[in-house]
Amino acid sequence: MTEETQDTSSTFDPKLVASLTEAQQETFRNRTGQSAQTFQRAEKVMPNGVPSSFQVNEPWPVYLERGVGSQVWDVDGNEYTDFHNGFGVMAIGHANPVVGEAVKARIDMGTHFAAPTDGSIVVATELARRFGLPQWRFTNSGTESTMDAVHLARGATGRDILLKIEGSYHGHHDAVMVSVYPPLEALGDRDDPVSVPEGAGTPLALTELTRAVPFNDAEALESVFEKIGDQVAGLIMEPAMMNINIIPPKEGYLEKVRELTRKFGIKLIFDEVKTGATISAGGATARFGVLPDMITLAKATCGGYPGGAIGMSEEIAALVESDKVKQYGTFNGNPLVMAAAEATLLEVLTDDAYEDLERKNQYLLDGCQAIIDKYRLPAYTEGMGVKGCVVFSPERLYEYRDYLTKVNEELSALAWLYHMNHGIFMTPGVEEEWTISVAHSEEDLDKYLAAFEAFARDVSA
Ligand SMILES: Cc1ncc(COP(=O)(O)O)c(C=O)c1O
Repeated sequence: MTEETQDTSSTFDPKLVASLTEAQQETFRNRTGQSAQTFQRAEKVMPNGVPSSFQVNEPWPVYLERGVGSQVWDVDGNEYTDFHNGFGVMAIGHANPVVGEAVKARIDMGTHFAAPTDGSIVVATELARRFGLPQWRFTNSGTESTMDAVHLARGATGRDILLKIEGSYHGHHDAVMVSVYPPLEALGDRDDPVSVPEGAGTPLALTELTRAVPFNDAEALESVFEKIGDQVAGLIMEPAMMNINIIPPKEGYLEKVRELTRKFGIKLIFDEVKTGATISAGGATARFGVLPDMITLAKATCGGYPGGAIGMSEEIAALVESDKVKQYGTFNGNPLVMAAAEATLLEVLTDDAYEDLERKNQYLLDGCQAIIDKYRLPAYTEGMGVKGCVVFSPERLYEYRDYLTKVNEELSALAWLYHMNHGIFMTPGVEEEWTISVAHSEEDLDKYLAAFEAFARDVSA
């Protein structure tokens, strides 16, 4: 990460970007003929031919067949080094043998009881050690984790309003499907943003209970608290934003948020679905040293199995204990998921592993920054832990409104095509970042850099 970024965007010829994009799209189509055929089968039975709309891709999704370590193979037989890593889940690498053995052993002992097993105690104990919150419950996804956390904040305070950060994604339940990726013209005033529903299907009355505030601005938050703080149950936020590229918190911001939420009796929820288990052993909570009332986890925590968790203070846990707030789920703490989480947290993502991952990630960030500097791209790098990205903006981003107005989508989309056509599997879309795994070698990272340099060279020609 460099402090200064330079505005060289004027040197880019939109016609060149458009013609390179066309050429790369053609290469992409030619490489993925079998995916195209699979898509035809798939769209007959699944909208857009995918199980979740986050997997939609133009002109068709790349259908994968298998993955081992840092590599994945698609149905055309193309081999890629994986930097998508299942939206940041596979920090352990694909088909990790340690996690595989633990899950296989558990299969032979029965896979589901809906009665507690030892694995849930071991995992909860480890999460308490890592994150510093004493009590944990399990869920099956990030969406469930944040949904339960919102119920708990409302149950704890008897208040209805939820605050969230403008431009943040916390899953797809009603309370948080507000002001996720609102278009510029719908935003309203920065000091008093409009609550914009994300898609149809949420009653307006529910949407209006969720209000957005800008990230990285404690003063704006304080003025909202002064106006409506006595009606606000909770503030849910990613401590470092990871769904509009990566935007870290400004120095002192999280501390101030903690102070203000305490002062106004508002529960602070750190949504660590992306940051937990990836940016340090204790996620953003440990990395930035600010303890919230609740932490929501999923993704990398359970080593590639569909699980999530909510960490909570003793005060919040009392609401669950008394059953005042309902925290339910048939599959919560499923033994297979717990076996995977236990092996992931205790044997694979160890302190040494985090150190190594941080070093590898820095190598990749430095390599990308050197290419940006060499070709004078209007971009900069950002990253931490196993995650990083090139932000295609000449200026640093601090919040969603920066992201909307400063990021060059065309360059970002073209870089994605170059990566995919050069055997680098990357998350589609402008807003994402890479995830590296314990299986990534220096050679894998160099492959990423070579693809990025091919893009940089062509686009600056
Ligand atoms: C920060 C954050 N919270 C919650 C979720 C929802 O998690 P899931 O997709 O497991 O429901 C996501 C998913 O991307 C996320 O990025």
